[in-house]
Amino acid sequence: MNEPRGDATRIARAHRRGMTLLVLSLVLGVAFTGWLQGWVGSPHFSVTAGVGGGAATGGAVPRARQGLVANAENRGQVLFGRSCDSCHSAGGEGRGVALVTPEFRRDFKTEADIIQLVRDGTCRMPAYSRAFLADGDLAEIAKFTLARARAAAGVETAPPLPPLDGRGILEHKCLSCHNTIDKPLDARDVQVLFALDDMAKCAGLTVEQKAVLRTFLRTQQRP
Ligand code: HEC
Ligand code: HEC
Repeated sequence: MNEPRGDATRIARAHRRGMTLLVLSLVLGVAFTGWLQGWVGSPHFSVTAGVGGGAATGGAVPRARQGLVANAENRGQVLFGRSCDSCHSAGGEGRGVALVTPEFRRDFKTEADIIQLVRDGTCRMPAYSRAFLADGDLAEIAKFTLARARAAAGVETAPPLPPLDGRGILEHKCLSCHNTIDKPLDARDVQVLFALDDMAKCAGLTVEQKAVLRTFLRTQQRP
């Protein structure tokens, strides 16, 4: 065992073992990265569970899939997959909300509503500047988001939700957060009107919701 010849063979063997391990880990590493990026697997987007006979899209609510190759028809979907799906997966497993719910359709009626929220950001969602997301790309994303939400409506049986009135906006969009922090909110206090611009943005209100809330808060002011 201790003679020099044996040592040389052992060292040569150790080198071969080392090389094999190196090559193996490289191959596995590339395969794993490919899997993460979605290079392998079905090129079709998956479909959420429970789809029935839907309207325009034939019932399927497409999930944005990362790593899909963009073409003229699916550009919005691919861009959504890149920029938004990590937080807004339609399965609801992200940090944001699934942008396919009845509440989403009630609050966001136009592509402009979505574009405004993305450009402004909220207290919980970062704003996207033009340097980060070009106007044309955001327009495609907004188009896809709205179309997907409407496709989801086609497979639901529940009736659409009526728009929130002023009190509803205050409760759902403001108190939902304020009740969790040490900052009592008094709708009769004129401070609420002064804070409205900042707080509407914080709560992600649409232009229309902000106007409805302003009118409501004016009626609440102490004489
Ligand atoms: C880092 C996570 C994150 C990313 C990335 C993200 N969002 Fe959001 N988004 C959120 C969170 C969290 C909320 C909930 C905001 C709130 O209640 O203030 C939200 C809210 C929204 C809303 C309002 C939904 C509602 O019902 O009130 C829209 C619309 C929206 N996001 C669109 C987008 C789009 C489009 C993109 C991609 C360009 C995107 N988001 C990327 C985290 C994210
Ligand atoms: C995501 C949580 C969140 C949401 C949603 C939210 N707020 Fe706030 N708001 C805060 C926090 C935190 C402060 C304290 C800010 C500070 O003291 O600097 C605050 C402060 C305020 C203040 C006090 C300002 C002052 O100078 O004392 C008013 C008024 C207010 N919010 C109104 C609203 C209204 C109206 C809405 C709904 C449109 C709303 N907020 C939505 C978190 C929230």
